[in-house]
Amino acid sequence: MPNPVRAAAEAIKPWLVETRRAIHMQPELGYEEHETARRVAAALAEWGLEVRTGIARTGVVGVLRTGRPGPTLGIRADMDALPIEEANEVPYRSRAAGKMHACGHDAHTAMLLGAARLLAQNPQWLEGCGGSVKFIFQPAEEGRAGGRLMVEEGVLEDPRVDLAIAAHVLPSLPAGTVGTRSGPVLAASDKFNIKVRGKGSHAAQPHLSRDPILVAAHIITALQAIVSRNVEPFDAAVVSVTRLEAGTAYNIIPEEASLMGTLRTHRAETRQALKRRMEETIRGVASAFGAEAAFEFIPGYPPLVNSAQATGLIERAARGVLGEEKVVEMPLSMGGEDFAYIALERPAAMFRVGVRNEARGIVHGLHSNRFDLDEDALPVGSAVFAQAACAFLRDPRAFGV
Ligand code: NI
Repeated sequence: MPNPVRAAAEAIKPWLVETRRAIHMQPELGYEEHETARRVAAALAEWGLEVRTGIARTGVVGVLRTGRPGPTLGIRADMDALPIEEANEVPYRSRAAGKMHACGHDAHTAMLLGAARLLAQNPQWLEGCGGSVKFIFQPAEEGRAGGRLMVEEGVLEDPRVDLAIAAHVLPSLPAGTVGTRSGPVLAASDKFNIKVRGKGSHAAQPHLSRDPILVAAHIITALQAIVSRNVEPFDAAVVSVTRLEAGTAYNIIPEEASLMGTLRTHRAETRQALKRRMEETIRGVASAFGAEAAFEFIPGYPPLVNSAQATGLIERAARGVLGEEKVVEMPLSMGGEDFAYIALERPAAMFRVGVRNEARGIVHGLHSNRFDLDEDALPVGSAVFAQAACAFLRDPRAFGV
């Protein structure tokens, strides 16, 4: 017998698809999600949820109360798009030049709206349960820390969120499948800038220069030794230099070179140690060549660590909705996510919703201008959220609350 929550989610699939496509056609960048927020707030209000808007500028929160005392489950979706021109030729192609939902946040928003609709329209599922479900729609996940601002503006209070979950689509995982993992899942994603100051000269008189390009090249090479020689082999870290800029002409050695890049780590100690080693390496190499180097470290999102209790809730819900064999364990990733700010405050976990469909050519990665998703995944995401809400409010003690 099919799971009733899954069956109800499949029944609203046309509406989920329509909602996702409407959001997809009108992508909005971080903190500009006005139209998306308006759509979300209107839908939540229509189903009788308590709605708050303007949290973290364009964030929206809906609260579904059982009317009886009990804990609160927070479920979060992100709403922002990316500054990419869509290359897909589909009827629901982005209508906004240079903007695209290339990370699936349109689907996250539709899935979470679907869960709110399912729970609001099926009150019998929560019969006898106490507590609330808080639906959190955040702005600006892509690099601008909307999740942190939501936390700072009190999204986890009133009612107090006891445990939180979220989902992200994944194009390497087949549609109809859900991926979970307990413990560390996503990395801290820090940024850095390096400015090398040397001495310029005519390119034919290198002995009069302190060539910043040569210094930059040695710095890049030396940085590659940090992970291989300073990080324990079973720990994971990445140092990537992603931009190198210097010079103006064939015959001029310039004064300066600048580099930028990213540091990815899972453990706080590794993050601090690598930051220190980078600084020492950069300064040491520059000074060996008689140049100077300035190192600017820009802390990004913290690592995301899934709590065992929240992961247990997701696994129970996903197995109920999809069956045991469709719930797979995910490998560790070096990607980053600002759901980490919520996970620093409460037991929390993020799971992956598979959206791959090779037969339909849906194989492109996140942030690709050809990214798309198999919409069969939409009811799956909604059903796992709704089932998790029911399981949590029915027996919060099973999940440590
Ligand atoms: Ni994303």
